[in-house]
Amino acid sequence: MSDPLPQRTQVAIVGAGPAGLVLAQLLARHDIDSVVLEAESRAYVEGRIRAGVLEQGTADLLVELGAGARLQREGQRHGGIELRFDRRSHRIDLSALTGGRAITVYGQQEVVKDLIAARLGAGGRILFEADAVGLENLDSERPAVRFRHGGVERSLAADVVAGCDGFHGICRAAIPSSRLRVFERVFPFAWLGILAQAPPTANELVYVNHERGFALHSMRSPALSRLYVQCGPTDAIADWPDDRVWAELRTRSAIAGPWQVNEGPVLEKVIAGMRSFVVEPMQYGRLYLAGDAAHIVPATGAKGLNLAVADVCVLARALAAFFGGGDRAPLERYSATCLERVWRAQRFSSWMTGLLHRFDDGDVGFAQKLQLAELDYVTRSTAAATTLAENYVGFPLPV
Ligand code: APR
Ligand code: PHB
Repeated sequence: MSDPLPQRTQVAIVGAGPAGLVLAQLLARHDIDSVVLEAESRAYVEGRIRAGVLEQGTADLLVELGAGARLQREGQRHGGIELRFDRRSHRIDLSALTGGRAITVYGQQEVVKDLIAARLGAGGRILFEADAVGLENLDSERPAVRFRHGGVERSLAADVVAGCDGFHGICRAAIPSSRLRVFERVFPFAWLGILAQAPPTANELVYVNHERGFALHSMRSPALSRLYVQCGPTDAIADWPDDRVWAELRTRSAIAGPWQVNEGPVLEKVIAGMRSFVVEPMQYGRLYLAGDAAHIVPATGAKGLNLAVADVCVLARALAAFFGGGDRAPLERYSATCLERVWRAQRFSSWMTGLLHRFDDGDVGFAQKLQLAELDYVTRSTAAATTLAENYVGFPLPV
């Protein structure tokens, strides 16, 4: 940002992740002014390796927002996924079951790069290394965000503040705890993820249920594999040398018949806990929370990024009604509108997680038998497979 630091805007957006950046692009379509405050540097946010599955609606919206050209060139459109269990493989034909809808595999950091380029290219204002340290007057018509930039504390006055600062941001904490209700479930395992310089093992995503634990084969390009194995909730990276990761992937993913995991140099290794989290309501005064600031879903359903996008579609539409015609009703309904989709995604993500992971509490043998019976049902019944498919490719966005 070359011009003098902004002191006032219509919508102050805290966070330049998918939620904040898509919101800024959507608001620009309604000629609503915004400023995005991002704590980290541009290089940092563009380098963070995160999720990688875009629902049909998310991919379509990115194209519509002028941030989809590279996605269309480099994104990998998949019409199906594979469920692997009991040493058998079954393809769920997502597109056939959903009237042609599909997912696109494209790294979140690539989405962020494209959105930043589109926003700045359109003259949008994103202030990097601007760390929001406090929100003020949220229960008034003149809220403000205090932030530190260049070692100096500054203030951005706004009509509305969008809290798009993720699970560890400050915006949710700015709401009095007496006004919030938290719903949370922590799963008794984590995911160990690697990015490997190796061609993907399969053409589509492979979700594995195995008695040793869950595994997932994904990808980032024809030369880059993204792979995950279920691990203990307190495991450390040091517990998982490369050889152990590859051995578990081979064992858990084996099927009767020829198949192999393509191995290669491990470029990144990370362990992420598995939780569900929702805060209600997702708004307070002139503050509106969106994305991970308000909810976390277990990664099994690949919903995180897509839910963030859905939230800001609702928020942008409500802000257009507010700024365009003084209609406050959509803003007043913002949280209730978002939470319908949030809880639908929580249900699906919890179901997928329960279906595919090993749980060591209670009667393990019985639980595994139930999982195999349900997997068998999902792969034999069109009705059951359709339920999985329509949730996985995602429902039309509220644009
Ligand atoms: N001030 C300014 N920016 C902040 C602050 C702060 N105090 N705290 C956090 N941020 C920034 C982070 O640096 C990050 O760039 O807010 C952004 C939040 O982005 P995400 O965490 O990606 O959250 P969201 O946009 O909701 O996207 C959700 O991201 O983490 C994944 O799995 C998640 O795929 C999902 C998606
Ligand atoms: C990924 O490619 O990172 C990915 C894919 C599907 C998931 C989770 C993560 O369910």
